[in-house]
Amino acid sequence: MTISDTYQSTQNTQKQYSVPVTLLQLVRKALGLMTVKPSKLLEVGSSSYSVLSQIVKSELDGGANLICIDNDSSAIDLGSRLNPETKFVALNALNIQEIDEVFDLILDSHMIHCLESISQVKNYLLRSNSVLSQNGIMIIETMIANNEFFVENKSWIVESFPGKFSIVERAGVGRRVVFEQLFLEDLVKECGFEISYLYFVNGNRFVFDGNRDNAVSSDPDAIQLVLKKKLNDILV
Ligand SMILES: C[S@@+](CC[C@H](N)C(=O)[O-])C[C@H]1O[C@@H](n2cnc3c(N)ncnc32)[C@H](O)[C@@H]1O
Repeated sequence: MTISDTYQSTQNTQKQYSVPVTLLQLVRKALGLMTVKPSKLLEVGSSSYSVLSQIVKSELDGGANLICIDNDSSAIDLGSRLNPETKFVALNALNIQEIDEVFDLILDSHMIHCLESISQVKNYLLRSNSVLSQNGIMIIETMIANNEFFVENKSWIVESFPGKFSIVERAGVGRRVVFEQLFLEDLVKECGFEISYLYFVNGNRFVFDGNRDNAVSSDPDAIQLVLKKKLNDILV
């Protein structure tokens, strides 16, 4: 098998939710960027499975408070039953401030692109920033479009703002925001964050079709961001 065959086979066998191992590695990396261990954690759009609950057990020796939110109450009910030690709350991410807590670490794995418009994305980022502690971090994994995505999937595009983002709809997946990388970078900065770490997950793609399990090269790429709250006082 040539290197190119191996690469292609990796591309084709990555599944949409084969992410958690990579995501755990990302959270561990982000912990290494923090000056203190986080004691309050929030997982947004967790569904019934919490990635951070593993971090609380393995990296934080159980000594942290974790809240998971999702706007799907059946996922939240299931999550509470499967993980009785974790607090699951049915809540729209756009109302994140209703929890009335300040968090040291916020994880958003694949939720942000489920929001319905860029103004919702912006509101959500601003609100997340406002509930983040001074030295806290926010970790986001989401989709980034590539050229092939636009060429191959024209019929899925509901609305497109070249160089910025597209709203895409696909049977079996629903409506999603697909960002372009520089636009997403600018957006998070506009919402009060600075980027500590940005990574394209090699060979990891979102399967953008409910009728197949395997990724193809025209599926959106996965991007991972570790964000810090921008501090206004810069010492010179
Ligand atoms: C693609 S799934 C990701 C699930 C999980 N975090 C993962 O990475 O496998 C997106 C999740 O976000 C939730 N979600 C979508 N819009 C939301 C919103 N406005 N507020 C809270 N949760 C939302 C969905 O119910 C769903 O559970």
